[in-house]
Amino acid sequence: MDAKDLLPMGEITRRSGFAASAIRYYEAEGLIEAHRSGGGQRRFERGVLRRLAFIRAASNVGLSIEEIRDELGRLPGNRTPTKADWHRISRHWGRRLDEQIAALQRLKGGLDGCIGCGCLSLRSCAFSNPDDVHGEDGAGARLLPDSLRRPHPTKRASG
Ligand code: FES
Repeated sequence: MDAKDLLPMGEITRRSGFAASAIRYYEAEGLIEAHRSGGGQRRFERGVLRRLAFIRAASNVGLSIEEIRDELGRLPGNRTPTKADWHRISRHWGRRLDEQIAALQRLKGGLDGCIGCGCLSLRSCAFSNPDDVHGEDGAGARLLPDSLRRPHPTKRASG
């Protein structure tokens, strides 16, 4: 590949909207690849922008970094997603979105009740989470649906 076809980090951050730290993180996680210039600076093939757009869309749907890696890993030769790939993946995301919508509807109906976050600030906590018993089950608001208790994206994409 001709070096002039490769984009520098500044161009990638400007076009993708991701911070350089996020780009480095996704490279370290194996979601994108970078070449190195003679001076050791990262240089990216233009197709990386499409992979980054895919990563952003997948994150917004609620896919974890592992799920995004799996989806990208199903693409032969580590290539960028084609129209056919998008179609296949969007069917999968459609199911995911249906689950998210159902979870949000349950949340909408239950936000005024105890969510098992450990605050014990509501009267309903005495019934739903007496003595913070749900704290034994792990981190997060334990009574929220699983899909709404995922790690915050900044926790996944920092570094
Ligand atoms: S709302 Fe936080 S523990 Fe009940």
